[in-house]
Amino acid sequence: MPVAAWCLLVLLGGAVLSVVYHTLKTGISPLPSSRRAREVMLSEIPNGFSGRIVEAGSGWGSLAVPMARRFPEAAVIGYELSSVPLFCSRLRRLGRCANLRLRRADFLAVSLADADLVVCYLFPGAMRALDAKLRRELRPGARVISNTFALPGWTPVRTHRLPDIFATPIYIYEFTVQSIS
Ligand SMILES: C[S@@+](CC[C@H](N)C(=O)[O-])C[C@H]1O[C@@H](n2cnc3c(N)ncnc32)[C@H](O)[C@@H]1O
Repeated sequence: MPVAAWCLLVLLGGAVLSVVYHTLKTGISPLPSSRRAREVMLSEIPNGFSGRIVEAGSGWGSLAVPMARRFPEAAVIGYELSSVPLFCSRLRRLGRCANLRLRRADFLAVSLADADLVVCYLFPGAMRALDAKLRRELRPGARVISNTFALPGWTPVRTHRLPDIFATPIYIYEFTVQSIS
């Protein structure tokens, strides 16, 4: 086998191992939100939105990049721990989306106090951790859009059901004293 093919094989193997390692570490694979879920999530953001949007676990950038393009006035920041998806998301936004930053960081370890909107597609354990953090840090009136998984003890202002076999929920929350128990 030629050297170039070996190099490619090693690179691909390394990338797969890295994704597996981070999946085990974070507890979730970088599976992107479906096209339908993305459309619903984006449709929940008002036209001309100019606040600060945080994506907790931005994966391959398949939500962060369209979000930053559709809302050029907003400041979008995606936090992601998995190196390969993060690298791909940075390639994806190359030369565009001046309003998008993609950071290698644990969203549980950064302040979310100045977020106007938090979007996520995680898993129940991460939602519990995020719940505690949001209760501590989020300012009243800030919104959360979550694909599939609910924030425990929060009452959504709206729940969309996707027209798929699981009737996948998209939860829309607004952080107020009344909305959490
Ligand atoms: C199911 S994917 C969703 C990707 C993207 N949000 C979307 O909807 O297309 C979840 C992502 O969250 C990332 N993640 C999980 N826990 C994290 C943490 N504590 N800090 C940063 N990223 C995390 C995972 O690496 C994974 O890429």
